[in-house]
Amino acid sequence: MSIDTTRANQLRFADAAEGNGWHPLSWNSFEIAQLPPYPNDEELESAYLELKSLPPLITSWEIEALKEKLALVSEGKSFLLQGGDCAETFDACTSPKLVNLLKVMLQMSFILIHEMGIPVIRVGRIAGQYAKPRSSDYEEIDGKKMMNYRGDLINSYQPNTDARLPDPKRLVEAHHKAALSLNFLRALTDEGFADLQHPEQWELDFMQNNEFYKEYEQMVSSINKAISFMDTITPNRLNTTQKIDIYTSHEALNLFYDSAQTRRVPRKQGWFNLSSHLVWLGNRTQQINGAHIEYLRGIQNPVGIKVGPPFDVDNLLNILDAINPTHEAGKIMLISRMGHQNVAKYLPSFIRAVKQNGHPVVWSCDPMHGNTYATGDNVKTRNFNEILQEIRETFSVHRSEASYLGGVHLELTGDNVTECVGGANGLNEEGLSSNYETYCDPRLNYEQSLEMAFLVAKEWNRSYK
Ligand code: PEP
Ligand code: CO
Repeated sequence: MSIDTTRANQLRFADAAEGNGWHPLSWNSFEIAQLPPYPNDEELESAYLELKSLPPLITSWEIEALKEKLALVSEGKSFLLQGGDCAETFDACTSPKLVNLLKVMLQMSFILIHEMGIPVIRVGRIAGQYAKPRSSDYEEIDGKKMMNYRGDLINSYQPNTDARLPDPKRLVEAHHKAALSLNFLRALTDEGFADLQHPEQWELDFMQNNEFYKEYEQMVSSINKAISFMDTITPNRLNTTQKIDIYTSHEALNLFYDSAQTRRVPRKQGWFNLSSHLVWLGNRTQQINGAHIEYLRGIQNPVGIKVGPPFDVDNLLNILDAINPTHEAGKIMLISRMGHQNVAKYLPSFIRAVKQNGHPVVWSCDPMHGNTYATGDNVKTRNFNEILQEIRETFSVHRSEASYLGGVHLELTGDNVTECVGGANGLNEEGLSSNYETYCDPRLNYEQSLEMAFLVAKEWNRSYK
């Protein structure tokens, strides 16, 4: 028996619709891509209702603050660093993983701020990035056909047919894991942040092989001087004088998860997705009459939109008209992910069309998803040089179009994994097996991430200083 994967389960309850017909579950009557149906409607409804009753993870004023900051990015006054795992797993909700991610994101942002001299907004792919689009619904393992793994929010990685069925209890577990992650991140950024800045926390030796080593060493020493200066003149240290923000984001893929957490807020207009500050529309769920766009058109959050193959400019314009008909500033982030060899050919027409149609957007570059390949041994990887090449090409196109590239979107981790080749440490394909952890896409490791931040700052300076 084959399952109809174009329709999600139909839930029987709905909030009152807005004048435009939208309500948090209005997407439910549209065709949906990338969300196979749950086997049991009752179990889904019960999980949905439980999730709907749980307290929100974030607040509406944080969402509004992020939107204001993104508006500044679209004016060229700020820069965005978005990064984290391709897919978070429930098991990886641990202290060391979260501390390491926060540490690498903070250090990267310090590098960018120091080198570029403008504020940097940090957005993690964190506390909700649990669902993945896949290119096929099924795979075969040891001769058995089973559903593909779609991230811990949907099913289990375990290779057996039952574990691969979508399980609605995961909707509630994802909320718990996201809450634990966010609680710890907030505590670290409030109180423990100072510990993350100590000089010995910068692991630099790897840069010794890089042509920029001297420059890099000077930069880190200067950042450390600035931090200890602040520490000295403010007895309570940075944590109480300048709160360090990190916002959360995930792909709005499993719309049951997002819509159950989409709420009204007293004294405010509209609906807020209170599971995450920002959500994005993936590259495979951009059907203009599909469920994902229907859902995204009704929320107040800033929304990211991936821009990649099949490179359909008109479809993007239609999506922008649907999601941001009033041309609100700070609302839309366009994340180009074209592959390093495609940027010069396709990006200019998108930039021009968006500009001509008067849409204020933040442009960001995801140099990861267009540059994935398999090695001879069939290991999924990405090459540091190609990632960098996509960033350079993207800056170069924006520069010639008099447009502002305001951010980067990276898959990265603070751990010493071996998933992408290249970088100053010279990781090669033979070295990939030594600490290859990801179930999904290959991430930059700690060293590759710091190096990338440094190189991004150089490109930004070349383009905009
Ligand atoms: C992602 O960001 O994890 C992703 C799947 O990207 P895209 O939708 O651009 O392929
Ligand atoms: Co990915």
